[in-house]
Amino acid sequence: MVVGPKTRGFICTTAHPAGCAANVARQIEYVREQPRFEGVKKALIIGCSTGYGLSTRIAAAFGAGASTLGVAFERPASRTRTATAGWYNTAAFESFAGRDGLYAKTVMGDAFSDAVKEQIIDLIRSDLGKVDLVVYSLAAPRRAVGDVTYNSVLKPVGQPFTSKSLDVAKMEVDTVTIEPATQEEIDGTVKVMGGEDWRWWIDALREADVLAKDATTIAYSYIGPELTYPVYHDGTVGLAKRDLAEAAKAIDAELRAGGGHAYVSVNKALVTQASAAIPVVPLYISILFKIMKEQGTHEGCMEQMYRLLARKLYVPAPELDAEGFLRMDDWELAPAIQEKVNAAWQAISNENLKTYADLEGYRREFYQLFGFEVDEVDYTADVEIGVDIPSIG
Ligand code: NAI
Repeated sequence: MVVGPKTRGFICTTAHPAGCAANVARQIEYVREQPRFEGVKKALIIGCSTGYGLSTRIAAAFGAGASTLGVAFERPASRTRTATAGWYNTAAFESFAGRDGLYAKTVMGDAFSDAVKEQIIDLIRSDLGKVDLVVYSLAAPRRAVGDVTYNSVLKPVGQPFTSKSLDVAKMEVDTVTIEPATQEEIDGTVKVMGGEDWRWWIDALREADVLAKDATTIAYSYIGPELTYPVYHDGTVGLAKRDLAEAAKAIDAELRAGGGHAYVSVNKALVTQASAAIPVVPLYISILFKIMKEQGTHEGCMEQMYRLLARKLYVPAPELDAEGFLRMDDWELAPAIQEKVNAAWQAISNENLKTYADLEGYRREFYQLFGFEVDEVDYTADVEIGVDIPSIG
């Protein structure tokens, strides 16, 4: 089949297998060019197929030689429809890992469920013994607990928020007003994106005795600049992230006796399937990227996650901020960068969009998430869309 992008709003409903494989190969290549690091041997990555989770898996495997087990929620191809990008990414990751003699298996299913937790525990028992790193990198729209399904929403809390935004479909600046969340929406978002399920994972792994005594666990968060506070940091997802931070403290207290730790890493804003859905954030990202590229400090998911593991986490004394967070957004929030972002944010309009924002870069990176617009891929060629993940078949 010849595969092209089909977009609907801020999602792309097709993915290109060769493009996704090329993206994964490129990330692996980056890690191979960096100095190797030590400290992680057997890692479980929850949310391993795209974005930050995928890059963490690549950094652990190809930067430190770790065996990796992953969990993700991705769909295989049907006869007429491509698989999701995360499916193709995982197939490529496992193939490359296999070629290098690295253990890699993946469970495709709902990470919130008991069934998937049990499946992972069985796999750790039979294949790895214990894991020493657990990465929690889920970005999910909903979570079912028993018969109840909770939904996650991206909304301000308390009052409406009006702001400039980027219409990703039209690539135009517009103004959006987002109504505040109801209490039910706030509670739902905390259930989905907060720390409860992370705690359940760690409890389940500990009870099954498949977590190393001195294990490290890490979850990802975002704070961002003040201009997105109403919709993010002080909004529903920000409240969920505060809950995640509380969970980190509780897990850390449990692991400390054995020499283990729980961390929250505050990462940089990046183009991923999750962030494209956040109102206001794509406009901020396209301004930010232009400035960080000009200053030479721009990073993608892979650069961020290699730096996190090799330079911030697996070092003798990880450096934490006053709230106990690892800060991977250090270069994003540098005052010199944010002053320029603020000036551009005030000035930007449809007339001068290209002067202030790297829209072309944003658009390209968005399509690349789905394996499109990757230089080395011939998009006129027929590709086999049914791709097996080695550990799943
Ligand atoms: P993403 O959308 O690229 O990846 C999400 C992952 O979760 C995928 O592997 C997906 O398959 C998996 N997933 C979703 N629902 C699942 C379920 N029910 N069961 C199993 N797997 C499931 O997201 P991204 O952006 O990498 O986000 C990961 C974490 O990083 C989130 O906590 C997010 O808040 C955080 N973060 C993201 C930033 C960004 O700008 N993208 C910035 C800072 C933090």
